[in-house]
Amino acid sequence: MPGFAYSPRRRVVTTSPTLEGREVLLGVTGGVAAYKAADLASKLVQAGVGVTAVLSAAAAKFVGRTTFEALTGRAVHGDLWSPGEHFRGPHIGLAEKLDLMIVAPATADYLAKVAHGLADDLLATLALTVECPLVVAPAMNTAMWEKPATQRNVARVKEDGVHVVEPGEGWLSCGRVGAGRMAEPVEILERVTALLG
Ligand SMILES: Cc1cc2nc3c(=O)[nH]c(=O)nc-3n(C[C@H](O)[C@H](O)[C@H](O)COP(=O)(O)O)c2cc1C
Repeated sequence: MPGFAYSPRRRVVTTSPTLEGREVLLGVTGGVAAYKAADLASKLVQAGVGVTAVLSAAAAKFVGRTTFEALTGRAVHGDLWSPGEHFRGPHIGLAEKLDLMIVAPATADYLAKVAHGLADDLLATLALTVECPLVVAPAMNTAMWEKPATQRNVARVKEDGVHVVEPGEGWLSCGRVGAGRMAEPVEILERVTALLG
């Protein structure tokens, strides 16, 4: 992958000149593919990115915040009403000084919220408060992905300037093979590198 080099002696992936020192907010919404977001967080950190993870309430049922705290070395957020150090609201404080916001996986529910400008939780509100590019990597079963409502929402968010890393076809956790499988973390990282380059 351009910009990355593997050092066999130290057995670490070296930082990327494009990504080093950048600030990324990684949103995780509630699908089985949430476990892949941990890999994406790790890859971003290894590339030198400062990563702040925000989990939706549903995402926290799939993956633990401790995983993201350990991988990013930062507090993990999830509640609009828990300001942490952001007393003007986490949706304001977390949106500052960001180079990019990524939501991976992005549920059908999240895409619908972004398409319609809803702001009823922290991640949905952040989509409205950030001033940096927003990247989403949808993941859902084939029926959800192919529903006209989902396709309308995807088309709408693209029109609004959201970068969509399209899902591929493959094994889905529902036990079928089809469209809706989240893009692999390395593919999302390539898109991020291209966007920030
Ligand atoms: C086991 C299980 C797996 C799910 N997988 C997905 C999924 O891959 N994609 C999706 O859009 N929704 C999936 N859902 C439904 C979402 O979790 C549900 O719509 C939730 O309200 C999403 O909330 P969020 O968008 O705030 O994270 C799944 C639900 C369960 C119980």
